[in-house]
Amino acid sequence: MASKDSRDVPVSSASRAALDHYETALDLLNGYFLDPIAAIDQALAADPSFVMGHCFKAGVMTTMAEKGAEPMLREAVEAAEALAAGANDRERGHIAAARAWLDGDFARSNALYGAILIDHPRDLLAAQLAHLGDFYLGQSTLLRDRMARLLPDWDESVPGFGYVLGMHAFGLEETQLYRRAEDTGRRALALGPRDPWAVHAVTHVMEMEGRVADGIDWLATREADWATDNMFAYHNWWHRALYHLDLGEIDRVLALYDTRIRPQPTAVVLETIDASALLWRLHLRDIGVGGRWREVADTWEPMAEDGYYAFNDVHAMMAFVGDGRSKAADRLLATLARRAEGTNTNAMMTREVGLPVATALASFGKGDWSRAVELLMPVRANAHRFGGSHAQRDLLSLTLIEAALRGGRHRLARALLAERTDLKPASPFNWEWAARAVRLLGDHRGAAGALDRATTARRAQGR
Ligand SMILES: [Fe+2]
Repeated sequence: MASKDSRDVPVSSASRAALDHYETALDLLNGYFLDPIAAIDQALAADPSFVMGHCFKAGVMTTMAEKGAEPMLREAVEAAEALAAGANDRERGHIAAARAWLDGDFARSNALYGAILIDHPRDLLAAQLAHLGDFYLGQSTLLRDRMARLLPDWDESVPGFGYVLGMHAFGLEETQLYRRAEDTGRRALALGPRDPWAVHAVTHVMEMEGRVADGIDWLATREADWATDNMFAYHNWWHRALYHLDLGEIDRVLALYDTRIRPQPTAVVLETIDASALLWRLHLRDIGVGGRWREVADTWEPMAEDGYYAFNDVHAMMAFVGDGRSKAADRLLATLARRAEGTNTNAMMTREVGLPVATALASFGKGDWSRAVELLMPVRANAHRFGGSHAQRDLLSLTLIEAALRGGRHRLARALLAERTDLKPASPFNWEWAARAVRLLGDHRGAAGALDRATTARRAQGR
């Protein structure tokens, strides 16, 4: 018996109860609430032959982007494949997309989820999976355009429209269309305020524009919406910490780390990435973080031979360097060298970005500043190929500039800092950092001028 979901998307042989549980599970996934897997298990209990139940589970596992999700991904893909004969075309598209991810062909998987949307633009599961795939593949324009393609078939009468707008907002932000991104994110939140991805899109706008006070206010006033019982809260807290870091409020940064970003050890890779990324930013500023690296490095160490996704591996390297674990760093580099020889999507990412960046971080750890500079300079142009956001990949530039400063490449540091102050003149930190480079070049008047700009930037933000 064929039926349709609440968006008029065809579903094969679903019991009403299974479909209702599916709708609940999808709504939880869209808003990053707990627990979409428990909800989809209820759908599968109601109808074990509900193919979209297995596809949903497989899709969620692809969004984890870690090897730890592979057993459940495999189980779900195999269960769905066994039901493929009774599935419709759209469902077979989901099965093929999840299978491609399981086989390590992330790019093909993403293309297949995207292809479903051409015929079924209201398939909100495919939309979210394609969007997150675009994120992991660093496809900024597709983060934006894939959602734009859907808009003719959506309006406020279609359940979940706010989530589509939230995803579109993030794509607009990643393609520097900041005004449209902010407007679209706000519109999404007017439809459904508990959309952490839309909150996040606008948070990114404020990060990229150096609107530190706006960003803190934005997150603080909406905290009840995005921070309560939400699986994505840690990342919006991470963004809040970045604002405080820009202001040099290190105590606030560490307090957020301890209570919100890393309140307890977890092996969830996406969360551990943010822990590494924040501690590394402090490491670059020579700020001691006590025993915090140890726990994060302990979490990464069992994954040093996974080589699942280069973006993860680079964040593992930060922890190994931060905690002085040279053996783990060497093991990780050996893994990356092996992975770079492969043919799948991650092999490309590792070859082009992961391996040079991880090697640069290890060199930075050894005080080999010139090697770190030499590796990071060219890779910046291709770094989007291993995914993440502009804000996350900024770590490469931050590391490069610090290596240039420490290695006596002061003119290079000044040039790179000029990029930053030009793009984000509202950021106090950028001006303070630029002052350091200019002072090292012996231009004390220029340094005083940069510090004046830092003070002006702070005052403009009421800080
Ligand atoms: Fe983010």
